[in-house]
Amino acid sequence: MDKLVIEGGKSLSGTIRIHGAKNAALPILAASLLAAGKVQLSNVPRLLDIEVMLDILERIGCTTLHDQETVVVDTSSANSFHVPEDLMKQMRSSIFLMGPLLSRFGEVAVYQPGGCAIGERKIDLHLRGLKALGAEIEELDQQIICRADKLKGADIHLDFPSVGATENIMMAAAMAEGTTTLTNAAREPEIQDLQNFLNAMGASIIGAGTDTITIQGVSKLSPCSYTIIPDRIVAGTVMIAAAATRGNVTLTHCNPAHLSSLIHVLKRAGVQISILNDIMNVSCMSRPKAVERIVTLPYPSFPTDLQSQVMVLLSLADGFSVMKETVFEGRFKHVDELTRMGADISIDLNCAFIRGVQRLYGATVEATDLRAGAALVIAGLAAQGKTIVEQVHHIDRGYEHIEQLFQKLGADIHRLSPVPKSLDLAN
Ligand code: EPZ
Repeated sequence: MDKLVIEGGKSLSGTIRIHGAKNAALPILAASLLAAGKVQLSNVPRLLDIEVMLDILERIGCTTLHDQETVVVDTSSANSFHVPEDLMKQMRSSIFLMGPLLSRFGEVAVYQPGGCAIGERKIDLHLRGLKALGAEIEELDQQIICRADKLKGADIHLDFPSVGATENIMMAAAMAEGTTTLTNAAREPEIQDLQNFLNAMGASIIGAGTDTITIQGVSKLSPCSYTIIPDRIVAGTVMIAAAATRGNVTLTHCNPAHLSSLIHVLKRAGVQISILNDIMNVSCMSRPKAVERIVTLPYPSFPTDLQSQVMVLLSLADGFSVMKETVFEGRFKHVDELTRMGADISIDLNCAFIRGVQRLYGATVEATDLRAGAALVIAGLAAQGKTIVEQVHHIDRGYEHIEQLFQKLGADIHRLSPVPKSLDLAN
């Protein structure tokens, strides 16, 4: 298992290009199954989760090509609606293959995705939506099987604006008979990207980005070429790292409009931010100020995916901050590790009470999930001394070579990969 070794205390500086959005590329890759033929996607990040999705598409008969930031998927020869268990277990978000496979084959078999480090990750809203569209659902011990001779449009209300459920329903409804109205839909930019991709294939969808999405079923979709939006969570992570190390960083190829809630929080903490089109400059020359209360909520409120990262900044701020996590029930696993680095954080249910300290100290820490791991990297960059971050594969799911990203900004960080047994020359 790879490790990251960080010699902290250096202020980040320089310019970094932000890669394409993992959470836009994944549902769009799944949606490519809705048409037989070649889909070409640009600005696709090179991440573990993307490779898993491409493996799944290959395993069900598609051919894929991934060259730099371009992916070509030919779904002409797709011949199975069974999502492989081993790959499903690697990436639970393959659950949103259900909509496209059900639409294309009239049947889909997936495995219970189960929970993960950040929470139970239920899928009841996905299943209720597909059932409303006419699917028969059989839940077995390990597997879930959905069948539908013909999907029919319906009025669907989500109890919670689930991102994945919104995406699955949009994809299943795109070629259903009649109109589907989805209320209390998720409003994330990745939902808008999926709508734009589906419409580029010939779908008729409006409303993404609002809480009501209307999908007029069409009889056929055609392959297309499409460019994925920038990754707002990677951009936010870099912005927070720049502030936590009292640096001065310019981000290019990003979309500041997708980061309004973070920009608001960083400005309240005394961070200077300037914006020009798809370029953002972030600088913080003095100790950040505490932010009295931050609550994670569905977009456009403060994103849960930046909660652990901003907690590092608040750990170094002058004053007392409160962070409330309302989206996932288990998303404070980074707190113990930050405490070992000298942070002063106490937890009560889904609230973290953070008293800022002058500095953090390097330690050996373990990434428990993707964004918690990114937070520990930020803590290592800001801390005094050496930090070793273990279980780096979690971080590689969502960040392209995170050590190279921060090396470009002047950080002293490098990756330690274990020597393969066969090459271990010492023995
Ligand atoms: C997406 O996950 C993202 N993943 C997550 O990013 C992100 O944290 C999350 O949306 C919220 O923004 C991808 O897009 C691949 P949800 P998703 O369905 O779709 C409950 C990252 O770090 N819920 O909006 O799984 C669920 O338990 C990842 O990149 C139900 O109860 O999120 C959770 O508490 C982590 N029933 C809440 O809703 C359901 O049927 C939010 O889940 C579905 C969800």
